[in-house]
Amino acid sequence: MIKNTLLEAIDAGSKELQKFFNGTFTVQSKGSLNDLVTEADHASEKAIFKVIQDAHPDHFILSEETGEIKQVSNYKWIIDPIDGTINFANGIPLCCVSIGVEKDGAMIMGAVYNPFMNELFFAEKGKGATLNDQKISVSDEDNLLKSCLVTGFPYQYLDSPNGPLQIFEKLIRKAVPVRRLGSAALDLCWTAAGRFDGFYEHKLQAWDSAAGFLIVEEAGGKVTDLKGNVYNPYQPGIIATNGKIHAALQNLVNGGDL
Ligand code: IPD
Ligand code: CA
Ligand code: CA
Repeated sequence: MIKNTLLEAIDAGSKELQKFFNGTFTVQSKGSLNDLVTEADHASEKAIFKVIQDAHPDHFILSEETGEIKQVSNYKWIIDPIDGTINFANGIPLCCVSIGVEKDGAMIMGAVYNPFMNELFFAEKGKGATLNDQKISVSDEDNLLKSCLVTGFPYQYLDSPNGPLQIFEKLIRKAVPVRRLGSAALDLCWTAAGRFDGFYEHKLQAWDSAAGFLIVEEAGGKVTDLKGNVYNPYQPGIIATNGKIHAALQNLVNGGDL
């Protein structure tokens, strides 16, 4: 029942992305100049809400553009109606709909769909992770120097020791390939599928990682905060890897050398 609703909601949201992509739509700035929200973000969110609220009117919802729709419930739906909005707004087909479902405070299910590549990533706690119904697993690389990594940067630069640019610089000086897709949910799913060996980012919101972190864990990967603690999507930092390079990446992110 929850799974059906989740997949229907993902489908409803992504149809809105397809409808607006490369067409005309309104774009507004939110907190900072380049933190954007488009008409498609709102349309996707509305379509997703309709599916969830028709099926489970008593469930709690947390969604990027609306915030919290509070209910006393064991269930919470955590929604990013478009992850990768800047890509979307520029006609770059690296964006997705991401929805995680929490029960009693623990993530039990997550789905991320990029309609432009027709890639649906899905995981249920304890049951593994899939890409278009095929089981996926993380990569085998155990050498950080030979890894292919991905990261992202916040809309407002974080000027702190071991900040995003310092870590990026250390990796780039050692010629480690570090990609920047512009969608944290896809960064996580592509790590789960073994395309990347690891992902780290300093400042995310719960809706960016709620579904993706479960997908990485269920694909056999490891996800922690920047200090190596058990991951909690309500705090900003994340390291998600194949497990084998986790300690080395965590050491680097905390000021260590490669
Ligand atoms: C953003 C993307 C990006 C990450 C940002 C997020 P949005 O989400 O996930 O990769 O670097 O921190 O805010 O704004 O496209 O939903
Ligand atoms: Ca996002
Ligand atoms: Ca978003």
